Amino acid sequence: MRRLGRPSSRRGFLALTAGVGAAMTVGAAGWARLAGASTGRVLASEGPLPEPFGVPLPVPPVARPVRGEGGADVYEVEQREGRVEILPGRKTTVWGYDGIFPGPTFVARSGRRTVLRVRNGLAVPTVTHLHGGVTPPESDGYPTDLLLPARCSPGGPSQAHDGMGDDGMGDDGMGDEHDGRVSIGYRTYEYPLPQRAATLWYHDHRMDFSAPQVWRGLAGFFLIGDEEEARLPLPGGDRDVPLMLCDRSFEEDGSFRHPAPAPTSAPAPGHGHDAFPDGVLGDVQLVNGAPWPVLEVSATRYRFRFLNASNARRYRLRLEAEGGRPGGRFVQIGSDGGLLGAPQSLAAIDMAPGERCDAVVDFAGFPVGSRITLRNTAAEGGMRDVMRFHVVRRGRRGERDDSRVPARLAASFERLSPSAAMPVRVFDFRRTHTGGGGEGRQMWTINGRPFRTGAVLASPCLGSVERWRFSSDFHHPVHVHLAQFQVVARGGRPPAAADAGWKDTVDVRPYEVVEVLARFAGYRGRYMLHCHNLEHEDMAMMGNFQVV
Ligand code: C2O
Ligand code: CU
Ligand code: CU
Repeated sequence: MRRLGRPSSRRGFLALTAGVGAAMTVGAAGWARLAGASTGRVLASEGPLPEPFGVPLPVPPVARPVRGEGGADVYEVEQREGRVEILPGRKTTVWGYDGIFPGPTFVARSGRRTVLRVRNGLAVPTVTHLHGGVTPPESDGYPTDLLLPARCSPGGPSQAHDGMGDDGMGDDGMGDEHDGRVSIGYRTYEYPLPQRAATLWYHDHRMDFSAPQVWRGLAGFFLIGDEEEARLPLPGGDRDVPLMLCDRSFEEDGSFRHPAPAPTSAPAPGHGHDAFPDGVLGDVQLVNGAPWPVLEVSATRYRFRFLNASNARRYRLRLEAEGGRPGGRFVQIGSDGGLLGAPQSLAAIDMAPGERCDAVVDFAGFPVGSRITLRNTAAEGGMRDVMRFHVVRRGRRGERDDSRVPARLAASFERLSPSAAMPVRVFDFRRTHTGGGGEGRQMWTINGRPFRTGAVLASPCLGSVERWRFSSDFHHPVHVHLAQFQVVARGGRPPAAADAGWKDTVDVRPYEVVEVLARFAGYRGRYMLHCHNLEHEDMAMMGNFQVV
């Protein structure tokens, strides 16, 4: 057993201090560190932490539809508490879809409707959002479209009602949250999926409480396949592995530790994380819900669908062989919005919260017995370890690996180019102090304003492409609902490797301007863009746009 956290906690704190007050005085070396570090502060766990590489990698089960009707797959899923063993010998209560964390993986087809009927068996309101989905507005998981607990229903026990107070509907100036489409007990989300094959994920999006509710487990994978992807000779079956990366902290008894107030208190909405305004970093690295796990692999190619599901942590992933030697490269084949036009070979993968990266790793060059460690070189101390691959056999049952990564991936990939006719809009993500008398509170804002449900920042036309410029004072992973976009410039330079392909989330680094071309296809209605650092999101760094 070992302890982690204190040194990195201090380091994290220094980094964020540099980002805020002293930004203008950081030297070049400071900038480099700032650009690589995570925004946030480590919340240290109580009690001993496990040794790394002691447990096998779990893979979330694939959900089964309860029926297929009229060209749709219908699923029923319940949000409920589950007791799971994350730390050896201790039990953690998760808030999970079907009581598990990560939730079940939904495997869907492009253009075939998926219907998710969600029952809320928890004691708190929830909202389910399909991240990366081209979804009609009423199913998109708008933060005030609450699904109230089933046991809140009229005539049911009132305890949950008392517990909820009027949270999310306060008079604190955070917005008129009464206008949500509220359901009790059950809610049906419809996903028509008019979009390419891609690695999506679903997660809680409740107004002011996304950070603690995702932290407790309300997240899972949603994979869309299509014919174009199915024709490619990529590794498949159990060599196509989704990897949800997130960091968590634990109490002595094994329960999740997060600074948000207990859900039964009546908090000032969204701002229970006041001690952690920059974001909460855990000191235990989880992959698919297991701490520093190991995956036994054959010496063949694997497709890994990396998802950064952390609240605030950023990753620079590298493969390292024994003795610190390089452990090979990643061949990136897809990004948030699906397959790239052509693969790109990368020594490192940079991922901000919310981003996905689909990459093939070939273990063929490693003798049986090799151990290859996935490292996060953007982290400190024990958090530099993520998971390990253990090469235990040549090929599966001796057969050849006939997978490959073709030089041309997606013929459907269309590169957008800027034109003078495209509307230009600017979104500035910045810390703002509100209130007076020297005791104003800090908010994370877009264009100087905290989120209000009634305020619309942009009204793009359905089917149009617009040039959106994101600027920031800090690290903000900017996520746009509905629209997919392509990055055309970062800090006045060409996009970074991590910006490749169709994206829905892009890391905007301190004092940087990122320009994207966003296509508003699919549906008219109200959608949002926001920072995907979940603590920033809960502290009002969200805005609406209306597709007209
Ligand atoms: Cu992954 Cu609006 O969120
Ligand atoms: Cu989203
Ligand atoms: Cu942010």
